[in-house]
Amino acid sequence: MTFEEYTQAVEKLNLYAYHYYVLDDPLTTDEVYDKLYHEVVGFEHNNKEKILKDSPTQRVGDVISSGFSKAKHLSRMWSLEDVFDADGLQKWLTKTYKLDTNISFYCEPKFDGASLNLIYKNGELFQGITRGDGVVGEDITQNVKTIRSIPLSIEHQKTIEIRGEVVIFKDEFDKINLERIKQGEAVFANPRNAAAGSLRQLDSSITAARNLVFLPYGVGVNELDHKLLSEKMEYIYSLGFKKPPQRARCKDYKEIQDIYEVMKSERESYPMMLDGMVVKVNEIAAQIDMGYTVKNPRFSVAYKFPAVEKITTLKDIVLQVGRTGAVTPVAIVEPTDIEGVVVERATLHNFDEIERKDIRIGDKVIILRSGDVIPKIIKVLTHERSGKEKKLSRPSVCPVCGSELLDEGVLLKCQNLKCEARVVNSIIYFASKPCLNIDGLGEKIVEQLYNADLVKSVLDLFDLSLEKLLRLEGFKEKKAHNLLRAIENAKGCEYWRFINALGIEHIGEVASKTLSEAFGERFLEVSKEEIIACEGIGEEMAESLLEFIRVNRESIIQLQEILHPKEPEQKAEAKENPFKGTTVVLTGTMSESRGAIKEMLESLGAKVSSSVSKKTNFLIYGEDAGSKYDKAESLGVKTLSEDEMRQLLREGS
Ligand code: IVH
Repeated sequence: MTFEEYTQAVEKLNLYAYHYYVLDDPLTTDEVYDKLYHEVVGFEHNNKEKILKDSPTQRVGDVISSGFSKAKHLSRMWSLEDVFDADGLQKWLTKTYKLDTNISFYCEPKFDGASLNLIYKNGELFQGITRGDGVVGEDITQNVKTIRSIPLSIEHQKTIEIRGEVVIFKDEFDKINLERIKQGEAVFANPRNAAAGSLRQLDSSITAARNLVFLPYGVGVNELDHKLLSEKMEYIYSLGFKKPPQRARCKDYKEIQDIYEVMKSERESYPMMLDGMVVKVNEIAAQIDMGYTVKNPRFSVAYKFPAVEKITTLKDIVLQVGRTGAVTPVAIVEPTDIEGVVVERATLHNFDEIERKDIRIGDKVIILRSGDVIPKIIKVLTHERSGKEKKLSRPSVCPVCGSELLDEGVLLKCQNLKCEARVVNSIIYFASKPCLNIDGLGEKIVEQLYNADLVKSVLDLFDLSLEKLLRLEGFKEKKAHNLLRAIENAKGCEYWRFINALGIEHIGEVASKTLSEAFGERFLEVSKEEIIACEGIGEEMAESLLEFIRVNRESIIQLQEILHPKEPEQKAEAKENPFKGTTVVLTGTMSESRGAIKEMLESLGAKVSSSVSKKTNFLIYGEDAGSKYDKAESLGVKTLSEDEMRQLLREGS
C-alpha cells in the first residue's frame, strides 16, 4: 500500500463510519470495512511516523490514565431553567417577549445523558471536556476519541466549541445491564448514569466498548456568522455530527406546544432517553441581547416531560416462579400514578440485586416507569428508614411446590418439572400470542383448568370437551364452545409457532423461525453442528435445544401428531421481471400503502430496504418524496415514479 492509497483508505473508512454511526445508513458490510481496516493497520504498523490523526485506528481505546486533568472551557457552559407545564411555558414566553417581541423559536429534544464540550482547532479534535462546574471540567479527550459519532477532524478550520450530550441508546443500556447482572455487578439505574459513568473510565477501552453516542445541541466559542441558531445547527450537522430525531422551528406558543406534544408522545420510540424539550430563541442577535442570569441563558428554557420517577413504599416482596423454574422477586408497592398509569408492581431482577441494594420491606423507594417496560426500583431512600423495615432472606425452597431450589448465585431455580407454577406458566406460554395464539386461554382460565384437574400438561388441552368445561364455574355453552374452537384452530399452525410454543430455554420467536425454516419436522433429528450452522444460533442455544429434545421427545412427537403444524413452504422462485434480484427503496406517498407495494415487490424477488445506499438499484417515489430522493440522485441511483414502476412491470412481463 502506498501512502496515497493509505490516505484514500482512511478517507473511505471514515466515510463508511459516518454513514454507519451518524446517518444510520450503512454504505457497506462489516466484512468490507474490516478488510480495509486491517490493510490500514498493516500500513501503519510499518510506517508509524506517517499515521494520520483521523485514522480510525486512533480511536481504539487502549489508553489507561491514572486520573483526569482539569481543563478550562473556552466559554462557560450554562444550565437551563426548567418549566413543567403549559402554564410555565406561557410565563417564560411572556418574560422573554418583554425582552424582544420580534423572535421565533427553535425546539429540539432535551437528551438525558452527560454534557460534553468538544474543542476543535485547525480542523482537528483538540479536547473533549466534561461540563464540571461550567467553567472548568475534566479532560477526557482519550475517551471521547472512542465515540464513533464524534469526528476526529472536521472541515471547519477556525477554533470552535461544539457542545452536546453523550447518551447511551436504550437497547444498548439493557444489554450492558444484562451483562452486569451476569457478572454479578450492580446495574446502572438509568442510561444517564451509564453514559456519565462510561465517559469517566480511566481505561478508555471500557468507554470504547459502551457504544456511546454524541448528539450536538449548540456551540460555545465560534466564528460562525449565521443569523439563526437553526442554520448554525444545520452547519454543525453538515460537519459530520448526528442530527436529533426531531427538531422544529416554531413561531409562537401554539407551535411550541404542538411540537412538545409530538415529542412527548413519540419519545418512547426514540432510541435514546429524553427528559423534555429545549426551547431556544432562534435569532442569534436577540440571544446576545438577552444575555444570561447568574445561572441560565435568558433565551432558552427546558420544557420538561412529566416525571416517570416517583417515590413510593415497598409493601411486600413476592416470589414468582416462571415456566423455566426461575424464581424472581417482585416488589409490591403502594399504588402510584406515574404519567396516567397506576403502578403496583416492580421488578427486582434477582436476589443478588436485593442484597446489594439492601432493599427491605417497608422501605421508601424510587420507582421508574419508562414506556412499556416493567417498572423498576432504582433507589432505596435509606435515610427515611424508621428501623421497622424488614429484611427478606434468600429462599431455599420453591414458594409454590416446596422443593429445594438450585442456587446459581444470580439465578434461583425450582427444578421440579411438575411444580404447579412451572406447569401453569408453560401452558399460558403455549397459548400466548407468539406461540399458538389460543384466544381465551389466559392466566385465570389456565389456573382454573389446572385446579380442576382438567389440564395438567399442554397435551391435556386437546382432551377437553364441552361436558368437562360445563362443569366449571363461569363456563356457559358459548364460552366453552369458543374455547374449544380456539384450541381446535391451533391445529395446522405454522411450524415455527409449534417450536416456539414448546418453551425451550433460550429459543425464542426468532430462533424458532430460523429452526423451522432450516429443518422443519427434521428438527427432532438434527446434530449440534447443523444447529450451530444456522445464522444467529450459538452453542448455548443448541445445547438447550438438544437437551430439551432428549428429555421430551415422546411428548413433542405426540403434540406434533395432534397439531399437525404446517411445514414451511419453500418460497416459489419469482418469474423473470425487471425487479427480480434488485434492491429497492420506497419513499413518499403512493396510490396504495407502502406495505402493500413492498409485499408486491418482494413477491417479485426484490429486496426492499429502508435506506438508500450505493447498492440500491431503484428508488421508487410517490408524492412528497423527501431526503431519500435527494440522496438517490446524489448517489446516481436510478429513480422511478410509481407510474414508471408499473409501466416497467407491464413491459417487462
Ligand atoms: S442547551 C445554554 N439543549 O441539559 C445552555 N441542553 O439542564 C446549554 N441538554 O447541561 C444547554 N439536551 O447537558 C441544551 N437540546 C439540548 C439539550 C441540553 C440536553 C442538557 C445539557 C445541559 C442541561 C441543562
